[in-house]
Amino acid sequence: MQHNWKRTLVTGGAGFLGSHLCDRLLAEGHDVLCVDNFYTGTKENIRKLLGHPCFELMRHDVTFPLYVEVDEIYNLACPASPIHYQFDPVQTTKTSVHGAINVLGLAKRVKARVLQASTSEVYGDPTVHPQTEDYWGHVNPLGIRACYDEGKRCAETLFFDYHRQHHLKIKVARIFNTYGPRMHPNDGRVVSNFIMQALRDEPITVYGEGRQTRSFCYVDDMIDGFLRLMESPDNFTGPVNLGNPTEFSILELAEMVIRLIGAKSKIVFKPLPQDDPMQRQPDITLAGEALQWKPKVPLEEGLMRTIDYFREISK
Ligand SMILES: NC(=O)c1ccc[n+]([C@@H]2O[C@H](COP(=O)([O-])OP(=O)(O)OC[C@H]3O[C@@H](n4cnc5c(N)ncnc54)[C@H](O)[C@@H]3O)[C@@H](O)[C@H]2O)c1
Repeated sequence: MQHNWKRTLVTGGAGFLGSHLCDRLLAEGHDVLCVDNFYTGTKENIRKLLGHPCFELMRHDVTFPLYVEVDEIYNLACPASPIHYQFDPVQTTKTSVHGAINVLGLAKRVKARVLQASTSEVYGDPTVHPQTEDYWGHVNPLGIRACYDEGKRCAETLFFDYHRQHHLKIKVARIFNTYGPRMHPNDGRVVSNFIMQALRDEPITVYGEGRQTRSFCYVDDMIDGFLRLMESPDNFTGPVNLGNPTEFSILELAEMVIRLIGAKSKIVFKPLPQDDPMQRQPDITLAGEALQWKPKVPLEEGLMRTIDYFREISK
């Protein structure tokens, strides 16, 4: 019988992106195995899925091998914000590198398709703008962000070597800043920081002069990109940029958040941290051509949904 039903493993499934991915896969009728060690993810993120007949949760650290039977793997396990990944940098590198080796080994054994949640951080502090996938990046291998950036770069290397050497069906997504409900309220990322500060009418902290730019992709758009990438033809491996190319300066973001919340917050300026990129913007031409994907949710609308979530959890 022909059907689209699949047993899908989501590593990091209790995290921000992972929990939205689990929601969406279940809604599409798949069986979902969510694996997480709850390093930054929470049961709260997936609480409403726990009784679902097609959902299974396993506490497991991806730095150890995993023996399960699945058809597809989304490898999202990895702390994603500097506060979390710099807390235990050795574990961060292990999660990216050993985690990749373990999921690739699993994919090889069960002949599963495997998608890697890579990152725009593989471009480091880019010298080209916007970044296309053929740009090799400008990363400081010794800096405090290197555990994440180089870990993710090495994971990409492993994915492509397993593809060449063992003919694995791989997909590599380079994810740019994504935001939405279930982001960590205290992870130091700019969107959650600004919203939390504004909800409390506290001063909003902007690093440097706030002229550094970021592009912000709403979570539903990102998940849509993941699914399209997973379903793309076998000969399309990526890497492919997924993100929203509309650039905003950090100062513009701060002003928008204050306006949407109606906060009394003032903006205060602090020195730029080490290795903080000045510009970050995806070129998503490839995603448009290969996946017919582009983000749809405008920043204001996505911010409103995110603000509603933060209001709710701060009650
Ligand atoms: N959110 C973004 O803007 C963004 C941008 C670029 C890349 N990414 C990538 O997407 C993925 C998901 O990011 P997120 O924003 O949802 O972060 P998150 O921290 O909310 O999710 C990561 C999840 O992985 C789990 N985890 C961490 N180490 C683990 C381990 N050793 N074993 C098992 N589980 C482990 C955490 O507990 C958490 O649930 C990450 O790989 C991240 O690098 C995210």
